[in-house]
Amino acid sequence: MKLSVIGTGYLGATHAAAMSSLGFEVIGVDVNSSKIESLSRGEVPFFEPGLDDLLKSELATGRLTFTTDFSKASDCDVHFICVGTPQQKDSLAADLTYVEAAIAAIAPHAKSGSLIVGKSTVPVGTAARMSQKLTQLNSKAELAWNPEFLREGFAIEDTLRPNRLVVGVTSDKAEQILQTVYAKLLAVGVPWIRADLPTSELVKVAANSFLATKISFINAMAEICEAAGGDVTVLAEAIGYDPRIGSKFLQAGIGFGGGCLPKDIRAFMARSEELGAKQSLEFLREIDSINLRARQRVIDLLRNDLGEDLKSRKIAVLGAAFKPDSDDVRDSPALDIAGQIAAAGAQVNVHDPKAIANAKVKSPTLNYSASVEECIKDADAVLHLTEWREYRELNPEIIGQLVAKKILIDGRNALDKKAWEAAGWKFRGLGRSTR
Ligand code: UDX
Repeated sequence: MKLSVIGTGYLGATHAAAMSSLGFEVIGVDVNSSKIESLSRGEVPFFEPGLDDLLKSELATGRLTFTTDFSKASDCDVHFICVGTPQQKDSLAADLTYVEAAIAAIAPHAKSGSLIVGKSTVPVGTAARMSQKLTQLNSKAELAWNPEFLREGFAIEDTLRPNRLVVGVTSDKAEQILQTVYAKLLAVGVPWIRADLPTSELVKVAANSFLATKISFINAMAEICEAAGGDVTVLAEAIGYDPRIGSKFLQAGIGFGGGCLPKDIRAFMARSEELGAKQSLEFLREIDSINLRARQRVIDLLRNDLGEDLKSRKIAVLGAAFKPDSDDVRDSPALDIAGQIAAAGAQVNVHDPKAIANAKVKSPTLNYSASVEECIKDADAVLHLTEWREYRELNPEIIGQLVAKKILIDGRNALDKKAWEAAGWKFRGLGRSTR
């Protein structure tokens, strides 16, 4: 079997290398020639743990190749569509330009009996519409949908050892083709769920909405803890022991960002309105608001300690990526907060182990430091906004000698409060009372 992967970003590059590691011949296709050149050289144009090594070893087998030429994928049995579906500039809805373009580009080359499989996150109804489009284009290929649940930072593991495989198909033949692709995963017991096209599209946005809801729930509890003098980290631990609730995704802090959760819940709301079911997802509006409020609360905490006027204050920001083990700054709460503080007149220095290059493109006016020491030098306050391991391993005693004021705001509730307080720091955490 020969596979193509169209779109070679976080999802596609990982999927292409992972499918090659399962023994398939894989061709990665993208319209961006610099991305293709870099992947062909064995260089991943973003940071994802382990992907560099996997890419190099798969290129060396000769099974994995990359091209900008769609016609080179004409002998493939399956074409995976892995392009992005970002939020539209002027609305909450998803921008489907890239999905539509990718399907239109591969359609004339897809051979008879082949399968075009969407992996991108799309509004429900897109797959049925794309299927009709293939018919209008007289395509010989069939359409299926197979949503991806991979987390950045764990992309390879989530692709090769997913906790479930979901396929939206309209024929037994399409299901059989996908079972052949994933045979090695099925052999080790990965659950297989066959669904119709709309359900398969909904599974993805429902899962991400649930995760976003869980995070905003605990951040709402953080607000209540602040008002009532409680500690949300203790509360989260206590409720997390109930297996019906579970302890994962109960980390209170500055909330969710990234290329998926924020835009997926917004696109889901927009789609529900089109479907005449607006009320069903009205709660997601509040989930979004709670999430954005968490960013503002960091700035409020800062003003509590430094006063309303932040002009000329030196603020050190540790973290720019939307989460650790990623260089992705899309909708990053950390970078958003850094930008807001700079807009209030403060002198902001940002450090991140991997995301500085991307952060510079997104927020070019902030100051960036190559080391933590340089970043926090003479700072009036240190904000811990992305929970990289490197920051957890900082020695509060040594760091304390470099700053102007020992004020630490832990926006991720991931540092050891007692150790920082023992070293003389004023330690602030979201949802942790200062009383
Ligand atoms: C998410 C989904 O987890 C994944 O299944 C889907 O395919 C894509 O979207 P990802 O965007 O990589 O993956 O990040 P995730 O690990 O889910 O974290 C999302 C955001 O939530 C991050 O900003 C993270 O810092 C935040 N988060 C997560 C919290 O604030 N608290 C938590 O308890 C967990």
